[in-house]
Amino acid sequence: MKKKKTTRNSSQPLEIEAIQLYKPHEGQKGFHADNSRFRILACGRRWGKTIACVNEIVKQAWEKPGSINWWVAPVYQQCDVAYSMLNKHFPEVIEYQNKSKMLVHLKNGKDGRHGSEIRFLSADKPHNLRGWGVDFLVMDEAAFVTEQAWKEALRPALADKKGKGVFIGTPAGKNWFYDLFARGVDPKQKSYKSFRFSSKTNPHFPSEEWDEVKDELPEEVFKQEFQAEFIERAGMVYPEWNRNKHVCIPFEIPPNWYVYGGIDFGYTNPFAVIWAAIDPEGTYYIIDEYYERNKTMNEHIASIKNRTYNVNMYFADPSGAQYIAELQKRGLYCGPGNRDVVAGINRVAELLKTGRLKVFSTCDNIIKEFEHYSWDSKRRGRRDFSKEKVKKVDDHAMDAIRYLVMMTYHTRGAEPAKKKSEVQRWREAHFRTKKHNKKYPDVEGGAGMLL
Ligand SMILES: Nc1ncnc2c1ncn2[C@@H]1O[C@H](COP(=O)(O)OP(=O)(O)OP(=O)(O)O)[C@@H](O)[C@H]1O
Ligand SMILES: [Mg+2]
Repeated sequence: MKKKKTTRNSSQPLEIEAIQLYKPHEGQKGFHADNSRFRILACGRRWGKTIACVNEIVKQAWEKPGSINWWVAPVYQQCDVAYSMLNKHFPEVIEYQNKSKMLVHLKNGKDGRHGSEIRFLSADKPHNLRGWGVDFLVMDEAAFVTEQAWKEALRPALADKKGKGVFIGTPAGKNWFYDLFARGVDPKQKSYKSFRFSSKTNPHFPSEEWDEVKDELPEEVFKQEFQAEFIERAGMVYPEWNRNKHVCIPFEIPPNWYVYGGIDFGYTNPFAVIWAAIDPEGTYYIIDEYYERNKTMNEHIASIKNRTYNVNMYFADPSGAQYIAELQKRGLYCGPGNRDVVAGINRVAELLKTGRLKVFSTCDNIIKEFEHYSWDSKRRGRRDFSKEKVKKVDDHAMDAIRYLVMMTYHTRGAEPAKKKSEVQRWREAHFRTKKHNKKYPDVEGGAGMLL
């Protein structure tokens, strides 16, 4: 992403003849050359979607002085990569930037100032996206943005200025991103154009990495993540998992909810701890994770103790009896979890299906594991009961969650203290007298007559 050299002296506005963008590879060239109003770019991981669209948004913003350009990602943290890329590679065209507002102004206004605006936003609070007219939109990781955010907030924002949109992402099953993609391959839909590329079409993607991930990942996951195929979530242990439904924004846990921990031991494999808070209705909120390899027990214990949750108890892998004893000795109230894999999976699946298991958006490893946890396809088909074997990869937090859920299934957080409404207080203050009760024995507080 080299820029043409520019010169400036203090009395003259900065003049930039043109922005020299990056050198796109073949797939990226085709995408940039297309002029459709809505472009959908479904690609494998590391294809170069973000780099391509950072260049695209700078180009669009630069060519339309005074324009409003948005980069929207599912959660705020995901905007960071693009924001940093833009600031790092295009300093000469930036007039003003504000990291806390995730806002950049370009120098393409009339006087070399007050030019176009590029704003980075998250789609997890769609109401914050309302009320603007937008010229150009990039939606990153579109498969994980809710359809509601697109239809109710972003699409209307593009309406008055006839704004353009680019949707980039790796497929995640056949959700609304798939439907959008399908529009772009339908020749009748003139405003939409779809592109699909596997990661391998990026010449910068290391070829040895391709073989390695192919070997490591379940077939379906590889097809989706690297070959950019929209596949049903067959083979997944938790096909009911849905980021839109099961991931939530962190919030402060009320003090009366019970908190438990689940532990899966590991050394070269990650040592995984998950913390779950259970609300009065029995909904599990997975609020935190610890996921570290190659560390000593002392280091793990120090990190666990660093968490300030009021944990009732930890449930750990029952095959690690000596580790459990060590944790107990070091003051953690810890016992063996239940190892029944199939029963545990059924319970977790039921919680997911009924919307009673949520994961805080900060738990990256847990979210990734829910998305990758799959049945061992090599065994599938060979034996009737083979579906009951899960692939032993990316399953550490999954195990820890099972131990916890199996041991706490009937637990509910304590009932919240019932708050009295203002009306109730008023009624009590005015009518709960012996005299009143005697006079109106059937009318609670007597307030019914007045309100
Ligand atoms: N045209 C290009 N020139 C140089 N490097 C490139 C090009 N296209 C992609 N890359 C490199 O490929 C890698 C992946 O790029 P990028 O982060 O844009 O991919 P992505 O598809 O957004 O990945 P992810 O799926 O992780 O979000 C980066 O190291 C990037 O520099
Ligand atoms: Mg990216």
